[in-house]
Amino acid sequence: MDILKLNAISKVANGILEGYNLTDASENPIGILVRSFKMAEYEVPASLLAVARAGAGVNNIPHDEYAKKGICVFNTPGANANAVKELVIAYMLTGARNLYEAMTWSQNLTGDDIAKQVEKGKAQFAGSEITGKTLCIMGLGAIGRKVAKAAYGLDMNVVGYDPYLSPAAKEEIPFVKVYNNKEDAYKEADFITLHMPLTPETDKMVNKESIKAMKDGVIIINAARGELVNIEDIKEALASKKVRKLVCDFPDTNTVKSEGIIVAPHIGASTEEAEDNCAEMAAKELKDYIENGNIKNSVNMPNISVEKTSAHRITIISKDNGSEEFGGKSAAKNGIRYTIIDTENSDITIYKSENIIKARLVY
Ligand code: MLT
Repeated sequence: MDILKLNAISKVANGILEGYNLTDASENPIGILVRSFKMAEYEVPASLLAVARAGAGVNNIPHDEYAKKGICVFNTPGANANAVKELVIAYMLTGARNLYEAMTWSQNLTGDDIAKQVEKGKAQFAGSEITGKTLCIMGLGAIGRKVAKAAYGLDMNVVGYDPYLSPAAKEEIPFVKVYNNKEDAYKEADFITLHMPLTPETDKMVNKESIKAMKDGVIIINAARGELVNIEDIKEALASKKVRKLVCDFPDTNTVKSEGIIVAPHIGASTEEAEDNCAEMAAKELKDYIENGNIKNSVNMPNISVEKTSAHRITIISKDNGSEEFGGKSAAKNGIRYTIIDTENSDITIYKSENIIKARLVY
C-alpha cells in the first residue's frame, strides 16, 4: 500500500494516511501525492488508482489521459486560497508603493551619511495608494473571491470576470461588478490580478490585444501561472508605459532582471498553514477514494459519495454512453461514468465489457 510523494508534502498527510507506506520512491504505488512535479514525464504503473495534487492548479498532470486509464485525479480547491490572497495584496502594494525598488536601493546604501542620503533620495520612490482605486479580478474562484473581499475591505472598487461563476459564488461577493467579457472588466482597472487555471483558452490571455483594452499605467499581478501572460507583449507595454508594472510569481530567463517586472519564486501557497491544509485535504481525498470508493474534488471524474450501508462495494469506471448501465448509484462527467454498487453478496463476478475502463472490489 505505497503512497508515492513526488514532491515534499506536509507531514500532516502522514497522520491521515496512517497504515500506508508514504514514500519518495515506489514502483507500484496505489496513490500519489504531488505538488508541481510534471507528471507528463512519469510512467504510470498499473497499480495506480489515484493522484491527489496538494494545490489548486492541475496543469502539471495529464488528467484527461489519466481518466481514460481509470486513474482519478484530485485537487484541493480553496485549501491555499488565504495564502495566495495575502500575497496578492502584498504584491499589489509592492507595485503601487515601489517597495521592491525602494528596499533594494536602501539595502545598497553605503557611507556614514545614510540617513542624509535617504532624505535626499526617497522622492524617486513615491508611489500611489490603493484606496479608491479599481481592482479587476480575472477568475472568481476560491482565491479570486477571497482577494475580492480583502480588496473591498481596503476600500477598493472591485470588478471581475469569470465565465463559470455560479449564482451562489456571485452572492458571496455582491459588491463585485462582474462583466461578461474580459475587455469591459479590464478597461476600468488600475490593478489587474489573474486567478484563472492554465488551459488552452487562458494560455497567453494577457497579450498585445488584451493590453490595448487596459487603462494606461495599469499594474498587473500574476500569482496564477506564468503562461497566462505573453511576456514579450508585456515588455513592449512596459517600455511604452502602457503597463506600469508586472508583479509575478514566475521567474524565468524572460522575467528576471527585466525593467518593470518584479518576480518572486512561486511562493503564493508557501505558508505553513496552506501547506498543511493542502496536504490534509489531498490525503483525505485519497484515503476516501482508496478505502470507500468515494470521489470528492476530482478534476477528471464525477464527484460522488455514498454512505457505507452494505458488506461489499464495487466501483466501475466506464465510458459514458448516457445510461446507468450497471445499476447502483452513478454520475458522469466529460465522457466518464463512475458507478458505486453496494451489495451483501460476497460472490461477485464482473465481466469484461468494451465500456469498462476499470472495476474494483473496494471492500
Ligand atoms: C496552486 O496551484 O495551488 C499553486 O500554484 C500553489 C502551489 O502549488 O504551490
